[in-house]
Amino acid sequence: MGFDLLKGKRGIIFGALNDKSIAWKVAERAKEEGAIITLSNTPVACRMGEVVALGEKLDAKIIPADATNVADLENVFKESMEALGGKIDFVLHSIGMSLNVRKGRTYDDLDYNFLNKTLDISAISFHKMLQVAYKMDAINEWGSVLGLSYVAAQRTFVGYNDMADAKSLLESIARSFGFIYGKERKVRVNTVSQSPTLTTAGSGVKGLDGLFNFADTMSPLGNADALECADYCLTLFSDLTRKVTMQNLFHDGGFSNVGISERTMELYNKGFGQE
Ligand SMILES: NC(=O)c1ccc[n+]([C@@H]2O[C@H](COP(=O)([O-])OP(=O)(O)OC[C@H]3O[C@@H](n4cnc5c(N)ncnc54)[C@H](O)[C@@H]3O)[C@@H](O)[C@H]2O)c1
Repeated sequence: MGFDLLKGKRGIIFGALNDKSIAWKVAERAKEEGAIITLSNTPVACRMGEVVALGEKLDAKIIPADATNVADLENVFKESMEALGGKIDFVLHSIGMSLNVRKGRTYDDLDYNFLNKTLDISAISFHKMLQVAYKMDAINEWGSVLGLSYVAAQRTFVGYNDMADAKSLLESIARSFGFIYGKERKVRVNTVSQSPTLTTAGSGVKGLDGLFNFADTMSPLGNADALECADYCLTLFSDLTRKVTMQNLFHDGGFSNVGISERTMELYNKGFGQE
């Protein structure tokens, strides 16, 4: 059921890969809330049947782009404005990838070429997107740009590896560009720090199952899933949150503010007694 939260708004959604993707849920929900959108992902992902089907279902043009490539991003904004008939109101950056994680390189044995790629794909692409949009003046006043982060930006989580550094940079870019974009064009820039979520990128993280269950028992409200994340993103694209900018907003069932829960302590004591 929709509330017309995004009625008449134009959006670009980066990063919908399959129906588990957070961006996929955002795209579906944005449409239900009355938005018109375009979708973007890597050329390889855009050729996949699932992404093509999503485009058809949502009547959304699919514009391939490597998010680390400035010319590709310029083309996404240009083609989106043409397809949607005007300047953009909201952008979702839902992109992350680490070759160090994929290839099993631990944080004390990083491959630095891989690290550069992690930072470029997962964080600097957010800056590139913002700079391209700013220079093209492609986003309307009171527009909203969102990136997706994780609490490992603030605290160490074994296995999250160099993605933690990427998320710290992503959140910093939201603050730094958010100041300029807010002051000059009244565009807001935020990151949403989401619970562990069972997606393709998520399952690349070492020990995701354990991390998922741990976060779930620690959080008073339990983990937030991809659809719940999408709903939260929509509120941040809507006109109801026009003065929220330069923030990292936790969407994690309360996890980030809990020391330990009774249930986690109980499980810990049980396990400890068995050793
Ligand atoms: N899954 C989790 O546990 C979790 C938790 C917190 C934050 N996040 C963040 O949410 C975002 C979305 O991830 P997801 O969990 O939905 O997984 P996902 O695998 O569905 O999405 C990641 C997307 O990044 C795209 N991508 C990778 N390299 C790219 C490039 N060079 N150019 C353009 N696109 C590229 C992929 O094609 C894919 O669509 C990521 O930023 C991720 O770090 C995920």
